[in-house]
Amino acid sequence: MTSIPVAAPDLTGNEERYVVEALRSSWISSTGPFVGRFERAFAEQCGTRAAIGVANGTLALHLALLTMDLRPGDEVLVPSLTYIATANAVRYCGAEPVFVDVDPATWCMDPERLEASITRRTKGIIPVHLYGHPADMDAIGHIAATHGLWVVEDAAEAHFARYKGRPTGSLARIGVFSFYGNKVLTSGEGGAVTLDDPALERRARLLRGQGVDPDRRYFFPITGYNYRLTNLCCALLCAQLERAPQLLARRRAIYERYRAALAGVPGIGFQPQASWAELSPWLFSVTVDAAEFGRSRDELAARLAELGIETRPFFRPLHRLPPFWEESRRRGEVLPVTDRLGATGLNLPTHTQLTDAEIDRVAAAIVEARR
Ligand SMILES: Cc1ncc(COP(=O)(O)O)c(C=O)c1O
Repeated sequence: MTSIPVAAPDLTGNEERYVVEALRSSWISSTGPFVGRFERAFAEQCGTRAAIGVANGTLALHLALLTMDLRPGDEVLVPSLTYIATANAVRYCGAEPVFVDVDPATWCMDPERLEASITRRTKGIIPVHLYGHPADMDAIGHIAATHGLWVVEDAAEAHFARYKGRPTGSLARIGVFSFYGNKVLTSGEGGAVTLDDPALERRARLLRGQGVDPDRRYFFPITGYNYRLTNLCCALLCAQLERAPQLLARRRAIYERYRAALAGVPGIGFQPQASWAELSPWLFSVTVDAAEFGRSRDELAARLAELGIETRPFFRPLHRLPPFWEESRRRGEVLPVTDRLGATGLNLPTHTQLTDAEIDRVAAAIVEARR
């Protein structure tokens, strides 16, 4: 039986044609027509004035924090249930990530837990739209405004999601995306920041492009970075964006089929969906209650692996990882919802090439694994 990967890119549209076009034009670095074309199209999709291509999502986060002028000694509130890049980017600035528990109703940063973690050093908040579900941005934005903090949204996993009808990427001062190979929209490696404020856009473009003055060649008013995205990557992204409606439709159908097939299986829980949330169908996620299911999450994952079905455990909570645990312990952080989800959550195969028969095979394997 063929094995089923947890994720796979779909490059079956104009991807090859556009990449070949970029190659033949010899525009293979970060200038070339696909860059502007992608940045305009992606900004339009996000409903922001600008989108700026960046070499990957981690650097997009770093660029966003540099743009917000995050400094050594500052603190930023982040969830602990996220990919490590969210917190690493804070550390790149010499600042400290402070971890806030997630809400069981969204699996994203719990607005009610924010205020207790704010100190004199807190400068901003980075909510993460975990596994495609938008965080409660109005509640978070309200607390941020009350305390004079900025918000940067980590939408790396939430392309095309909506919060109260508004697209992700437009819900904070700066939005951050990843286009890594397993994402809904991909260029292999790639990322973007999205924003509305023209002054922030100028600063972000300056920082991304080595800090070179746009009007004076080889004059560098600040220390910048080379975080640019190539024309080749943007060629891929232009092709992907053209097919976004089809890619999303297939992924949504996969979610529905999993839900129907696994509904009512004792011990299997689904990702919650707030009434105001439109999910990005990135990776279908379940939780495994070991007592009810008869096997732990890891035992289920191991059984599925034996059957050639690849899965992904949820992120290990960051406050329990070596780069962060000492500081987290010193602050006395207790994050029970994060710990529970981190120990029980599992991502199932989700990509457009997955057939209905394969979805049924995964679901049947889960049902049969129950004890
Ligand atoms: C929540 C989150 N933030 C940031 C990133 C970093 O993106 P990249 O892998 O493109 O560097 C990821 C990665 O996939 C992510 O899931």
